[in-house]
Amino acid sequence: MSAPLATPTNAEMRARIPLVTVRDLRVRYASDAPFVLDGVDLDLHPGEMVALLGASGSGKSTLMRALTGFAPVSAGTARVGGFDLTNLRRGQLRELRSNVGQVFQQFNLIGRLSVLTNVLTGSLYSAGPVNMLGTFRRADRTRALDLLDRVGIGHKANEEARSLSGGQQQRVAIARALMQNPKLILADEPVASLDPKMSRTVLELLRSIAHEEGIPVLVSLHVLPLALAHSDRIVGLRHGEMVVQGATSQLDAHKLAAVYDIDDEEDED
Ligand SMILES: Nc1ncnc2c1ncn2[C@@H]1O[C@H](COP(=O)(O)OP(=O)(O)OP(=O)(O)O)[C@@H](O)[C@H]1O
Ligand SMILES: [Mg+2]
Repeated sequence: MSAPLATPTNAEMRARIPLVTVRDLRVRYASDAPFVLDGVDLDLHPGEMVALLGASGSGKSTLMRALTGFAPVSAGTARVGGFDLTNLRRGQLRELRSNVGQVFQQFNLIGRLSVLTNVLTGSLYSAGPVNMLGTFRRADRTRALDLLDRVGIGHKANEEARSLSGGQQQRVAIARALMQNPKLILADEPVASLDPKMSRTVLELLRSIAHEEGIPVLVSLHVLPLALAHSDRIVGLRHGEMVVQGATSQLDAHKLAAVYDIDDEEDED
């Protein structure tokens, strides 16, 4: 008897449907300004860690901002989950943002508050302003502590956030993002302030979140070897255009050179 054709599992089916779909996206910050993003196509699938490369000013942060409605979609289309960035209904912007966990270079923690409270603020996004006045629910505290364990710093829960090292603070920020139950994680240069070892730890943490929780993670990076070592796919922006896109296993530093302006080679003999 021949083996039956493999039927995809639910997880596999989900992984094939992109959570983010961007087509011919153009962004400019003013109607008389040049396009900062100029025809970007991008799909992000559940479970993948995608590195976003590009020189300074190429539009990496702008792309992330466009996905959360902080930068205008001047032309083209951008969808995140069920949200159409070109046609958000009243109240949808807040809802969209509550679905997107964001991680930044400078961590953006509230330094004088405890690590646990910082993580709990992630739940405020979904709870709405009413809960900001009250105390956090016991279930949220339990979950926040679990998430701190998940990122490896459960023992720091009661310390002031500002007393932690950069790598530890970034892990708190990741736990805070997870507290939102995000459908997507956008990490804008999350390791730019960290040493090489901690950079690897944080990137592998983000990657394990992508793989284990099925959350697409888009992470902008400046260090090419880190992108090659810690992502499933790489997209490269140059002057607002996507010039490279492919599985990380199929790319190398030579193929990624197109991302950077390496045409001023006057030093060559
Ligand atoms: N709020 C804004 N208003 C006007 N122009 C902006 C704004 N934000 C960014 N820009 C411009 O858009 C371009 C792309 O900037 P962006 O911050 O997206 O680049 P980036 O790739 O994230 O750079 P970096 O690696 O330095 O963070 C730059 O020319 C920048 O000056
Ligand atoms: Mg940037």
